[in-house]
Order: sequence, then structure tokens, then C-alpha cells
Amino acid sequence: MAEGPAPDCSLCPRLAAYRADNAAAQPDWFNGAVPAFGAMDARLLVVGLAPGVTGANRTGRPFTGDWAGDLLYGALSDHSFAEGIYDKRADDGFRLVGARVTNAVRCVPPQNKPVAAEINTCRPFLTEEITAMPDLKVILCLGRISHDSTLRALGLKPSHHAFGHGSEHIVEAAHRPVTLLSSYHCSRYNTNTGRLTEEMFHTVMARARALADAA
Ligand code: URA
Repeated sequence: MAEGPAPDCSLCPRLAAYRADNAAAQPDWFNGAVPAFGAMDARLLVVGLAPGVTGANRTGRPFTGDWAGDLLYGALSDHSFAEGIYDKRADDGFRLVGARVTNAVRCVPPQNKPVAAEINTCRPFLTEEITAMPDLKVILCLGRISHDSTLRALGLKPSHHAFGHGSEHIVEAAHRPVTLLSSYHCSRYNTNTGRLTEEMFHTVMARARALADAA
């Protein structure tokens, strides 16, 4: 079992202060360290960057209500990693099947930009998450920060495992081989600029499906 950070985690002073400001302005929002979504026995772990302020930070579920969630949860559904209708709410009844979703940084950062110290401070929770998943076969990292932090979480050097859209590295996680598959982040910025198309994202998700299904 990976417990993750407490909702009121205070390890990163800047993030805790930002959460407190958001809680003062929007007391009905979640405004805490966002827990992972999905069962521990999943074969696929998706690692995003950090909650968006009006999305996961508001709803309390990764990517939920964030623009990036529409593309992520649509692709997970299309590749049979989810059941039900994703309706941008933590209580929408949407269920992940064989997949779990978390973030490299669990608290919303100002301007969507965690600093290096925050990424480092949150990393033990990512290590804990990865090592507590007994059936894990593939980690899908969304963006370079997720890619690099996941490698470091496994004690590996990013300089030896290049990031690219669709890049794959076989790595050791809790003494088992796991494929670290990476994608450009499915953010609004990347899709608006054409760096990532829906088709490109679906191709990566199809690869995650194949890797998760491989014996
Ligand atoms: N919302 C998340 O929870 N994570 C991201 O990486 C982006 C949006």
C-alpha cells in the first residue's frame, strides 16, 4: 500500500502556502495533496506533472477537471483502461481498469511550474507508489519532468535514458523489469501548438496497452 502524502502535507513551504491561499479563496475546493487514482494491482501507472489549480486541485482526483484530463481519460477509455463516463468530477463513477494515475508533484504549483526542490521533495512518494504496485508492467510518463523524476525515483540517471515522445526504456522497479514509456504531456499548450496531436497520444496509449497485455 502506498499511503502518499497527507492532504495537508507541509514538506514544500511554497506549495503549502499556495494551497492555503487557494483554500482561503475557494474553501469548497479540495486544496490538498492529490492522491493517486486507480487500484494498486494495475499494470499501467500514468505519471503526470502536478495538479492544475482549477482541475485536480479543485476536484481532488488527478487530471480531473483539468484540460489535460479530457485527452488522458478519453485515451484511457478508448484503450480499455477505464469504464464509465468521465465527467470531470471525482464522484462521476468513472473507474480505471488496470491503470493508476498519479503526479510527479502532488500539490498544485503556482503557474503550473514546480521548482526542482519540490520535485525532489515529492519524489519519495513516487518511489513508494511504483514499488508498491505488484503487477506493474508499464509506466507512462507525461512530459520530461515526469520522465526524469520517475527515472530518479528508480535510482536511474536521466542522462542515460533519453526522453522523447514514444521513447521506451526497460528499467528495474522493485526487482522487476518495467517499461518506462514516455509521451509529450497532454497539456492544452502542447495540443494547441501542435507539438502533440490526439493521434500521437492515442498511438502512445495503444503502445501502453500492448505492453500492459504482453505476457
Ligand atoms: N492535472 C494533473 O493532475 N496532472 C497534470 O500533469 C496535469 C493536469
